[in-house]
Amino acid sequence: MKDILQRIGELGIVPVVKLEKPEDALPLGKALLEGDLPIAEVTFRTDAAEESIKILTAELPELLVGAGTVLTRDQVKRAVDAGAKFIVTPGFNPSVVDYCIGNDIPITPGINSPSQIEMALERGLNVVKFFPAEQSGGLAMLKAMSAPYSSVKFIPTGGIDTKNMVSYLSFNKILAVGGSWMVKPELVAAGQFDEITRISREAVWALHGFELAHLGVNCTDENEALDNAKKTAALFGMPIKDGNSSAFCGKGFEFMKSPYLGEKGHVAVSCNDVGRALAFLKSKGIGSLPETERKKDGRTAAIYLDLNIGGFIFHLLQK
Ligand code: 3PG
Repeated sequence: MKDILQRIGELGIVPVVKLEKPEDALPLGKALLEGDLPIAEVTFRTDAAEESIKILTAELPELLVGAGTVLTRDQVKRAVDAGAKFIVTPGFNPSVVDYCIGNDIPITPGINSPSQIEMALERGLNVVKFFPAEQSGGLAMLKAMSAPYSSVKFIPTGGIDTKNMVSYLSFNKILAVGGSWMVKPELVAAGQFDEITRISREAVWALHGFELAHLGVNCTDENEALDNAKKTAALFGMPIKDGNSSAFCGKGFEFMKSPYLGEKGHVAVSCNDVGRALAFLKSKGIGSLPETERKKDGRTAAIYLDLNIGGFIFHLLQK
């Protein structure tokens, strides 16, 4: 259960899929993978759900497939037999939830009130779906409602899209967001799988929010670093901030007081969540250098990547 929820947290976005025909399952799964969203919650809103889950889990093992809109124990059994790795329910149905817990099946039940959160807590569940998120009061409601429950994380779903998801994800009690905006039934019906890939990728870039933070230039010693900072400041009018290991000129230039990692220096890239960014980069074959990790409040705040371009090593920073 923990592994699946951790993976959902790493991915940050759960596409909520409604398939009318099992034949659409494979192209849809491929479109999500192509869009860097290797996860799908296939809803039991149609008769095609069970067969679609079977196809996706058999053909695309790299896709994490769960079942959504699960309303009965029978649907849980059918979903799991078909290969679903997690169950999502729109509301808190004690019979379905207890069945999943008793059978060690990861479940995120839907809640939108403190009483329902407490029903989850009583059963040892620490992750719930907040549904329907926007219509239940959105982030303001979630912040107020979650305040007494420090251990609970949420997957808000309902009315979420690329525009509003980043504000949800910036709240530290959000594990991931869910939604159908990248897999709209009309796109599937029209066979517009390229568009599904495009919207998925756009959502993934928005999730990470990668931006150039600064350029770190290796200097041989402190004098050279300060000379370079002064020269840059004099030409471009940026303030110098002299630190222990480097001198910054404005926010964009860092002159290292001794040669550090990278043949010429480093490129610092900031992102919304270093943990999620590292999982994403790992899927692209880019590792990190654990010995360079800096933590803040229990989270990774900065880490160097095993990535060098043009003599510069890449440094990932938390925004
Ligand atoms: C769900 O089943 O979780 C919702 O229908 C998804 O909501 P959305 O369609 O507003 O994204």
